[in-house]
Amino acid sequence: MRILVIGSGGREHAIIRKLKESPKVDKIYAAPGNGGISKDAECVDIGAMDKEKIVAFSKENAIDIVFVAPDDPLAAGMVDALIANGIRAFGPRAEAAIIESSKVFSKNLMKKYNIPTADYEVFNDPAKAIEYIEEKNKYPVVIKADGLALGKGVIIAQTRKEARDAVKEIMEDKKFGDSGNNVVVEEFLTGPEVSVLAFTDGIALKPMVSSKDHKRAYDNDEGLNTGGMGTISPNPYYTDEIAEVCRKTIFEPTVSAMNSENRTFKGCLYFGLMITPDGPKVIEYNARFGDPEAQVVLPRLKTDLVDIIEAVIDERLSQLDIEWKDEATACVVMASGGYPLAYKKGLEITGLDEDGQVSGAEVFHAGTKLENGKFYTNGGRVLGVTSSAKTLDDALAKAYEAVKKISFEGEHYRTDIGRTK
Ligand code: AMP
Ligand code: GLY
Repeated sequence: MRILVIGSGGREHAIIRKLKESPKVDKIYAAPGNGGISKDAECVDIGAMDKEKIVAFSKENAIDIVFVAPDDPLAAGMVDALIANGIRAFGPRAEAAIIESSKVFSKNLMKKYNIPTADYEVFNDPAKAIEYIEEKNKYPVVIKADGLALGKGVIIAQTRKEARDAVKEIMEDKKFGDSGNNVVVEEFLTGPEVSVLAFTDGIALKPMVSSKDHKRAYDNDEGLNTGGMGTISPNPYYTDEIAEVCRKTIFEPTVSAMNSENRTFKGCLYFGLMITPDGPKVIEYNARFGDPEAQVVLPRLKTDLVDIIEAVIDERLSQLDIEWKDEATACVVMASGGYPLAYKKGLEITGLDEDGQVSGAEVFHAGTKLENGKFYTNGGRVLGVTSSAKTLDDALAKAYEAVKKISFEGEHYRTDIGRTK
């Protein structure tokens, strides 16, 4: 089989490493990929949003399956374009990817189908949003841009002034562009967060092992929200009992809600959950693997990923048993100094051997380029240093040991991955 993976981050690197394990795979391409990915796949210089070129490349190179990993091409209809051209693709069509690309859509879906989530109101007028917030006068309050914003479009305002500033930044200054035409103003929930990714073909849903993301930039959950600074799997707060509640009240109702709306979801559906004192509630949906959740979940997968992808595409997922390794995995993201705000690029990375790996750990490249045999930084999140072991403590110790061997100017990582709620 010849597989094309679309995307260029650590998640895509983890997907490609897993695909490489499959005896069914002969050749893997990545569009556009990155420096580290080029060691595991052939990178082609086509942007992740370029539907025409991806379709043409897939035809010319007899690609059997295209794996569309990031949110924006999914929202922009990459899978629709591939299917229309007779190419098999893994991922939801745009009409279903909207579950991530519009928070207004997903909140209204949850309300309509009684799926537990934070109470909310939607506004297209900043003055009305502020009036509502000030009338409620309950802080913190959560303000979210409607559309995609690289995981940064959510502001938890602690005061009236922060709330006003957030509404202004999102709706008037258009910090996230048109993603901020509408905002969701939401009740602040508390409790541990859990990420559960699930394979679904629109009929069956098979949850993967749980994970936990650390979204804030700095230790003790301080600083701005990022795309994710590190992950662990399993999530210690996700008990079997909670999993069963989630299956009944959240996972299965979501799949059937999407079917009822004629937006059947096929691919990887990501549930961002909070285990509140009133039970598990949905914080957000994503229409894809999380990044860096994929980096800790996929290494634990025993079943051939290609078999799962084909079962999802062909709608026979219910017949497949998916097996997982009984171990713990930890991923520590090494980011550029300054991320998620401005940062430098092009800094040499040392401590990675030829294969981009360190013994005892696996390094997924998120933002690197390879020039004359050397790796350089090329993004906000640079590397995801990952390790698996029998216990979470051992996995964390090994991952941090590997992190210490790698360096670049201004490198920044959290030292408390796996240690906070
Ligand atoms: P989202 O992009 O919607 O997942 O939000 C990013 C992060 O903001 C989440 O992972 C939570 O940590 C936090 N967050 C979002 N919504 C809420 C909420 N209603 N209450 C408390 N924290 C929230
Ligand atoms: N790590 C969170 C996300 O991928 O959205």
